[in-house]
Amino acid sequence: MTTIERAAVGAGIDRVDGWQKVSGRAQYSNDVTYPGLAHAVLVRSTIAAGRITGIDTSRAEAEPGVVAVVTPDNAPRVQRGPDTGLWSQPPQPLQHRTIVHHGQYVALVVADTAEQATAAARLVDVTYERADAVLDLDDPRAVTVENPYGTDQTRGDSAAGLTAADVIVDAEYTTPDETNNPMGLFATVAAWDGDRLTVHDATQWPDSTRATLAAAFSVPERDVRVLAPFVGGGFGAGLRVWPHVVLTAMAARVVGRPVKLVLTRPQMFTGIGHRTATVQRVRIGARRDGTLTAIEHHSVQTAAVDDDNLPEPVTAVSAVGYACPNVTTRDSLRRLNIPVPSSMRGPGDAQGHFALECALDELAYSLGVDPLELRLRNHADEHPQLRLPWSSKALRECYELGAERFGWWNRDPTPRSARRGDTLIGYGMAGVSFFWFQQPCDARATIDRDGRAFVRSAATDIGTGTYTVMTQLSAERLGLRVDQVRMGLGDTDLPAAPPQGGSGMTASLGSAIHAAAINLIQAFLDLVADDIASPLRGLTAADVVAVDGRLQRRDDPSISESYGQILERHDRPDLTADGSAVPAKPEELGLAPAGPFAARFAEVHVDADLGRIHVARLVSVVDAGRILNAKTARSQIIGGTVGGIGMALLEETVTDPATGRIANATFGDYLIAVNADVPDLDVTFVGAPDRFNPVGVKGVGEVGLIGVAPAIANAVFHATGRRIRDLPLTLDKLL
Ligand code: MOS
Repeated sequence: MTTIERAAVGAGIDRVDGWQKVSGRAQYSNDVTYPGLAHAVLVRSTIAAGRITGIDTSRAEAEPGVVAVVTPDNAPRVQRGPDTGLWSQPPQPLQHRTIVHHGQYVALVVADTAEQATAAARLVDVTYERADAVLDLDDPRAVTVENPYGTDQTRGDSAAGLTAADVIVDAEYTTPDETNNPMGLFATVAAWDGDRLTVHDATQWPDSTRATLAAAFSVPERDVRVLAPFVGGGFGAGLRVWPHVVLTAMAARVVGRPVKLVLTRPQMFTGIGHRTATVQRVRIGARRDGTLTAIEHHSVQTAAVDDDNLPEPVTAVSAVGYACPNVTTRDSLRRLNIPVPSSMRGPGDAQGHFALECALDELAYSLGVDPLELRLRNHADEHPQLRLPWSSKALRECYELGAERFGWWNRDPTPRSARRGDTLIGYGMAGVSFFWFQQPCDARATIDRDGRAFVRSAATDIGTGTYTVMTQLSAERLGLRVDQVRMGLGDTDLPAAPPQGGSGMTASLGSAIHAAAINLIQAFLDLVADDIASPLRGLTAADVVAVDGRLQRRDDPSISESYGQILERHDRPDLTADGSAVPAKPEELGLAPAGPFAARFAEVHVDADLGRIHVARLVSVVDAGRILNAKTARSQIIGGTVGGIGMALLEETVTDPATGRIANATFGDYLIAVNADVPDLDVTFVGAPDRFNPVGVKGVGEVGLIGVAPAIANAVFHATGRRIRDLPLTLDKLL
C-alpha cells in the first residue's frame, strides 16, 4: 500500500460536503422551488377510528389563493406501492372514508402560498362517525400476528434448559413508542411534465420512491425521477414512501402546477413512522458457574391496523448474542388504531437488547457473578444459529478494552455501595451484537483525461457521511487523491441502490464501488490491450495496482502509465465502467456474516432524594470492521449514543388513551437528550477488516444507539438497588 492509499481511507478527513452544508449551498428538498410553484397543506383526522360522514370544502375553497382541495371524494385512485423485497409500502392516502388512526390524512389544500394553504386547511369541515378505537396492547380486541417476519428461532429445548438451570431470571421489560425526529422536516416537491414526473424528496431510498410513484400513477419507472442529494436526517423515518409524498405528486397532477409540501413538526409524529412499543418476557437459566442453559425471549410489539411494521425482530439478538444451547425467540405484532410504525434507529435490536442485557445483569446478581464475566463466559465464538465462524468478531476486545478504559474492575458490585453526599453512584454495562445487513447495489465510475474521477449511485447520504467515505474509498481503489474524486448521490437517474438503512450502505455501496473500480481499471487495460505504445498491453486488472493516478505493474512498479496518457493516445475524453455487488452467501464463504459488535459502560449519578438520573460517563468500544473515516465513524457512534441516552431517560411518544391523539407531538413536549444530558463520550474502535465483503466494513450507524439504555438501566440498579424494567427511566419510577 502506498502513502496515498493509506491516507485516503481511514483518515478522519472532514466531510467533503461540509462546505456545501455550512454555506447553505446544499439543496435539501424543502429548498427546491419551481416557477408557478403551489403549496400543499394536509388536514388530519381528529378521531382514531370510525368513518368520515361528510366533508365540506366550500369555506376552504372560497379562501384567497386556494387552487384545489383534495379529499377522499375527489382524489384520483392510486395503486399501493409495490413490495420492495424488504418491506411493503404503507397504504395510499385519501382512497376511502374509513379512519384507522388519529392524524390520518383526510384532505389536502393547495394554494398559491403556504400561508394561504395553511389558513384554508383550518376551514375544511369534516364530520365523523366515531368508533371505539383499540389503543392498548392489552385490549382483547387487538388482532395478533404471530411470527410476522418469519424470524422466530428454536434451538435445542429451552424448557429442558430452564429445568436444568440452577438459577432462573424471569422478567418482563417494556419499551414505549418513540418517534424519529430528524431536524429536517420532511418535504416533497413534485413537478409533472406531461406524464413525466420529477420529485425532490427527503428519502433514504430514492429508487423505492420512484417505484411507488410509478405504480401509484401508472407511469413507467423511467418517466419518474426522484432527487435526494441531501437529506436532513432520517433515523429510519425515510425508509418508506409515505402518504404525503404520494399526495404531493397527486396534487401536482390535479392542479397542473408544481407543488411543494413540507410536514409540520406535529405531522412528523404521525406521518413518517415511529419506533414500536414492546412488551417482552425474558426467561434465562444458568448453572451456578454462570453457563447459560436456556434463553426464552418473547416480544409483543405494536402495529397499525392496515400495515405491518418494517421487519423489526425484537428478540433476534437472543438467538445470536450468546453461546446458549437452548433458545426460543418469538415475535408478534398486535394491531392498534395508531399511526403506522416503522424503523427507528436500531429497529428491534434497540428494544431487544434492553430486555436481554438487563436480564443478564439480573442473572449476574442472582449468581453472584460479575456481569462482564458472565458475558465473557457465554461468548458466542461461532455463530450460534449458523454454526459457522464469524466473518469478524472482536467482541472480547470490546469488553476487555472497555472495562479498562472505564475502570470497571474497580467497582464494588454491591448495589447502593457508592455514595458521594446525596449522590448515589452506579456502574453498569451491556454487550451489543447488531445484525448484518448488505443489499445488492450498483455504481458507476468515470475517469477523465485530467485524471479526475466521477463516481455515482442513486444511494443517499442522510448525514451519515456516505459522500465522504465513498470518496475516500473510490480514491483508494482508483489510485487518486480524494480531491480528484467527485461523488454523485441521491438521484434515480444514477445506478440502482438499496436503502440507506440497516447500517448497510457502506458495505452495499462500497462493494459496488469496489467492483466498478476493478471494471474501470480493466476498461483502461482493454483499451491498451493491443497498443504497442503502452507498457501495460496484455495485462488484466489483477496484474496492476492503481497509484498516483497511474496504473502500474504489480510486480514491477517502474512500469506504469497514467489514466490521462492512455485516454489521450486513444483520443477518448474519458472512460466509464459500472460495478454491481450482491452480498455473498454464508455457505459459499463458509462464514457467518457479522454485524458490528460493541461493549458499553455507563456511570450514572442518581440524586438519593429526588431520583434524578444523570449519566456521568459513557464508554463505548465498537468492532465495526474496517473504519473508512475515523472522524465520521466516531461521529456516528456519538450521535447514536446521544440517541441511546434519550431512549434510556427521556423519549416516549404519549398517546392520549381517550382520543388516540399523540399528546406530545412537539419538540417542546417530546424530550430528547440535549447537551446538558450528554457527558463526555469515549469511543474506541477495535477489530479487523470483516471478511464478508471486499471492503472489510461493517455498519457504524445503529450500533451507536444499541446497548446504551440497558447499560444505563443496569447502572441505575447498581446505584440505587432499584431495578426498573420499563423505559424511559424517569424519576417517578425510582421514587
Ligand atoms: Mo435505519 S432505522 O435502518 O434508517
